[in-house]
Amino acid sequence: MNDLPEVSPARNIPRHTAIIMDGNGRWARQRGLPRVLGHERGGENLLRIVEAAGDLGIEFLTVYAFSVENWQRPDEEVSSLMRLLESYLSRHAETLVKRQVRLRVIGDIDALPEHARRPLLETIQATKSFTGKNLVLALNYGSRAELVRVAQGIARDARNGTLAPESLDWENIAARLDTAGIPDPDLVIRTSGEIRLSNFLLLQAAYAEWYFSPVLWPDFDAACLAEAVRDYSRRNRRFGKAPALPAPAL
Ligand code: FPP
Repeated sequence: MNDLPEVSPARNIPRHTAIIMDGNGRWARQRGLPRVLGHERGGENLLRIVEAAGDLGIEFLTVYAFSVENWQRPDEEVSSLMRLLESYLSRHAETLVKRQVRLRVIGDIDALPEHARRPLLETIQATKSFTGKNLVLALNYGSRAELVRVAQGIARDARNGTLAPESLDWENIAARLDTAGIPDPDLVIRTSGEIRLSNFLLLQAAYAEWYFSPVLWPDFDAACLAEAVRDYSRRNRRFGKAPALPAPAL
């Protein structure tokens, strides 16, 4: 992870796109359906978007599938989300392999129930040799919890004498984040019209472009993703520097 994320120069495609998949509950409510059906449709939509992202040339797609705060939802909803993760992997792991998508995870997955954790680890293992496309699931993830884990590791190493405090720099901290080895997101999308960050990739998205879509996640299709990418490609990223001067007239 670098301080200044790379952008594909060819078509200005966001090499790493991250999505807060919001609006499953409202999608279900609008149809008089239980919330869990909204999550099911949201899960199916994720497969469409993984394929669309690959077709657009996006190398890393990170999705906020379950936050640290989501444990506070009713037990029934939490367990249906965990079952959904399990069935998603059992139904779609083959598609990930066929499409050569490497599955990765960020967040503390030790807290996930075994029935969801096992297929997750199996799919991570089965896809680990793929290099072109990556699907990163944020599970039991939150930036503050991630930072606490990093700080604990730093404190442990300083106490053991393996880390001199003055040698600590951003690269060292970035290498301890869950996203170590993954470039910073270039574009972060939130669906459903909510305009907030919700503890998602707060450090990694320091220089990201944000895109807020009014569309509810189950309806956020390939065309919506392409529009977000088009919007991104028109933006002028400066990373805190002065704007480039126009080329002199010949
Ligand atoms: C937010 O919608 C969505 C979630 C908390 C869960 C996201 C999960 C999925 C898209 C499907 C499962 C994912 C996998 C990997 C199988 P919300 O419930 O907060 O919607 P609302 O704001 O309209 O109530």
